[in-house]
Amino acid sequence: MPLYNASKEKKVPFSSWMQKLPQSPLLFTGSSHPTLAEEISSELGCSLGKSRISQFPDGETSAEILESVSGRDVFVIQSIAIHPNQYLFELLLLIDALKRSAAKKIVAVIPYLGYCRQDRKDKPGTPITAKLVANLLASAGTSHLVTCDLHADQVEGFFEIPVEHLRCQSLLSQKAASWLGSQGIVLAPDIGSIKLGASMAKQLDLELAVMRKQRLSSTEVKMHLLGSVKGKNVLIVDDLCSTGGTLSAATDLCLQLGANKVMAAITHGLFAPGAIEKLESSPLDQILTTNTVPAPIYPSSKWAQVSIAPLIAQTIRAISS
Ligand code: R5P
Repeated sequence: MPLYNASKEKKVPFSSWMQKLPQSPLLFTGSSHPTLAEEISSELGCSLGKSRISQFPDGETSAEILESVSGRDVFVIQSIAIHPNQYLFELLLLIDALKRSAAKKIVAVIPYLGYCRQDRKDKPGTPITAKLVANLLASAGTSHLVTCDLHADQVEGFFEIPVEHLRCQSLLSQKAASWLGSQGIVLAPDIGSIKLGASMAKQLDLELAVMRKQRLSSTEVKMHLLGSVKGKNVLIVDDLCSTGGTLSAATDLCLQLGANKVMAAITHGLFAPGAIEKLESSPLDQILTTNTVPAPIYPSSKWAQVSIAPLIAQTIRAISS
């Protein structure tokens, strides 16, 4: 008996065969980082979906999807930084609009997931904002999350949907390697960044030193070094920089303890007001970030950025195939 008989195979109508052809991913963006969204869409060879974000006269935000998404898998690109309240809310509105327009799968691509630093109740009367944001995204209709270097890995567990947690250390290490030379050492500026630092040290085949950070106020920190940086080119690795207090205190201490020079590789350059000026005038030699957050105008050549667009595009391709 033949194992396979072509003449007996059920004929598939042409229309349903057409429906099964892979469709290019449908990308939308909020207004937080249109440059990154454009870069990702050009990596993928597709254009951005039509949508509109505007404001009502009373200050409320309005979002509108201007093309059909029915039955399609859609990706919404939006970082929750710089104006986090506005961008989080825009994202929720876009997701709700996509859900009500019958999109099949809604993937939130949030390169920087803001509000994640409050991931536990560290004193009475405080919220756990990371869990609240996870709940809001899920109840709006998010079916999948793509994000980069979360402040703490356990935040992934706050989501009951699949999470692609992308790591940016390999992108940053490629650029940092030539600067470090043979005398390099990686430094985690606080206990929370040890895992990132260890991953960077492994990629660069270097030792890891650690600092213990005492926060004196929201802008001031005091550091104690565990390890030695004497005569070394130090690479400080952290998930984010906000006021620049951590980076500048860690740099000062490294130089006081005999480091040769100090550079920083940070995933999310949030740079709150005053941070750029503070770091520009600090003895830090180089400051390298990714573009999870839009770049400010850099005052000098000590600032550099690597793009995460190829990494995000590759992830979108994998999810939509
Ligand atoms: C702390 O847990 C983070 O990893 C960063 O070190 C910190 O948030 C940086 O903030 P700033 O630049 O304000 O010192």
